[in-house]
Amino acid sequence: MGSFSQSSIREPHTKHDVLNGGTHGDDEWRLAPFQSWHAPTISRWVSTPQQLQWLAPSTPPPLTVEKVVGWLKPRGAAFVLVKGGESPPWGYGEINPMRADAGHVWLGHVIVRPDQRGRGLGSFLVRALLTEAFERRNVKRVALILFPDNLPALRCYWRAGFRVSGEEHHMFCGGKTTHRLLRLEIEQSTHRRRNWGSGTRDLEPVAKPFNPIPDP
Ligand SMILES: CC(C)(COP(=O)(O)OP(=O)(O)OC[C@H]1O[C@@H](n2cnc3c(N)ncnc32)[C@H](O)[C@@H]1OP(=O)(O)O)[C@@H](O)C(=O)NCCC(=O)NCCS
Repeated sequence: MGSFSQSSIREPHTKHDVLNGGTHGDDEWRLAPFQSWHAPTISRWVSTPQQLQWLAPSTPPPLTVEKVVGWLKPRGAAFVLVKGGESPPWGYGEINPMRADAGHVWLGHVIVRPDQRGRGLGSFLVRALLTEAFERRNVKRVALILFPDNLPALRCYWRAGFRVSGEEHHMFCGGKTTHRLLRLEIEQSTHRRRNWGSGTRDLEPVAKPFNPIPDP
């Protein structure tokens, strides 16, 4: 489960196609609820401790299937980026609630297949997660934190409309080093003001978010 056919690896798609929502029908890019059978594929997308730190600083290396499944928190929702029907995942990300504020969520563990980066898939994935959060769940603000030297991620979030709102200092995995991270945020009103083009406006919300951990 979770491996890619040669035909899907070689399937041509341009950055323009991806940013405009790709083709439609069976070939459409969309979010789907994360399911545990996606986890082995996702766990193979991280190959070094440095990559894991950028993606999931609270997860000690190595990344395993169980750790991917364990990312999903109560009241959070995890999604994969797929093309067409029951296809293997091309990307992954979570929408997680802030403890103190019901109208405020954060994006977690956003990642794209390593061999497909730099083609606009990450931007499409982030925009789809924002559409899910702002339009389907009616949240007012979405935030995330990232390491400042993670330039591909910074550019990807910037393109989706995030702006830097501050910085945070964290220690991870019982370590003694304090790391400086950027906090990025986007408001619902900002997201709605932006002109995303027809592909994203047509994006279907996820019908039934998958949450294997029931609310307490
Ligand atoms: C962050 C990530 C999801 C982006 O996915 P992607 O499909 O490459 O995203 P996009 O193609 O939409 O955009 C990537 C941007 O980074 C830029 N970029 C790529 N490599 C870069 C590099 N080495 N230095 C600077 N910018 C770079 C691209 O030019 C593009 O910017 P542009 O659209 O302004 O030209 C992907 O890099 C990834 O999975 N990284 C590993 C996991 C991770 O670190 N996640 C973020 C956790 S906060």
